[in-house]
Amino acid sequence: MKLKIALLPGDGIGPEIVAQAVKALDAVAARFGHGFEYKKALVGAAAIDATGDPYPADTHAVCQSCNVVLFGAIGDPKYDNDPSAKVRPEQGLLRMRKALGLFANIRPLAVFDSLAHRSPLKTEIVRGADFVCVRELTGGIYFGKPQGRSEDGNTAYDSCVYTREEIERVLALAFRLAGERRRKLTVVDKANVIATSRLWRQIAREMAVQHPDIEVEYMFVDNAAMQIVQRPTHFDVIVTENLFGDILTDEASVISGSLGMLPSASVGAQVALFEPIHGSYPQAAGRNIANPMATILSAAMLLEHVGLAAEGAAVRRAVDAAIAQGVVTEDIVAQGEKSCSTTEVGDFVAGQI
Ligand code: IPM
Ligand code: MN
Repeated sequence: MKLKIALLPGDGIGPEIVAQAVKALDAVAARFGHGFEYKKALVGAAAIDATGDPYPADTHAVCQSCNVVLFGAIGDPKYDNDPSAKVRPEQGLLRMRKALGLFANIRPLAVFDSLAHRSPLKTEIVRGADFVCVRELTGGIYFGKPQGRSEDGNTAYDSCVYTREEIERVLALAFRLAGERRRKLTVVDKANVIATSRLWRQIAREMAVQHPDIEVEYMFVDNAAMQIVQRPTHFDVIVTENLFGDILTDEASVISGSLGMLPSASVGAQVALFEPIHGSYPQAAGRNIANPMATILSAAMLLEHVGLAAEGAAVRRAVDAAIAQGVVTEDIVAQGEKSCSTTEVGDFVAGQI
């Protein structure tokens, strides 16, 4: 298969970890006889520094000209500490999602058995947890208008807006995903208070009738926040709106005990984007210590997304082998063992493939 892959390394550790995923992809191409072509582009603080724009038109053109996008991370402390900054790296991410129509963020949460003891939760609670969060990504309060400040600056407002079309398309994806898994869908909302949530629930009920094979449950977001840590094994597929999904997916990500291991996919009408769920980890940038596994596993999701299931499985097996043999970075190394560098892990995984 010929595949054009846009590479958006972004900020902080982004370039280092994306480079390791590219090694894995190159190994897949060599072993399975595929032709992967890469096109690099700037995003985030790196793009602001070079062009003044966190999502330049050139970057958008590169993404549109490719089949898939592999993304590193975005964010730089110099902007986090400056609330008055007019241009921010995060705006690049939001504009990219909107411009590429990436309406669903899919975050699988699986607990690696050998890493379960690293979870902040008791091992018996997290062991066996295996669920997927589907977060709506281009609507809701992140994008709703009006948004802003009153003239005197003392009142601020955001609007949470959802249309039937936006809700239906992400729910359809979640129903499909549940059908491919354990057939259980949890719709998370705040329908006891919020109008958009009531529309979500109404539409989910309509769609549930058309999916009699899927067990659908409805859960308020505050309760869901509690259930995720109390009994994470309860869930199969969770679907929710943008802001709730932002919060719940961060919460869910830590229960595995290994944030550096979790990949994600953002999908939409055309091009799909794959990225680790962790951030730009600026303290580690350039030090060759960051865990590249989440990005390598994002590459596995990328391969599976384009129909290369055996190739994706080969990447996952290589990651499992690295963990089993202790070829891992300092964040997940067993006590008393020597950790490996980012590039050592990347080379080992590519070698296994
Ligand atoms: C995420 C991030 C972004 C979001 C920020 C960086 C804009 O937290 O991808 O979850 O809130 O969506
Ligand atoms: Mn977030």
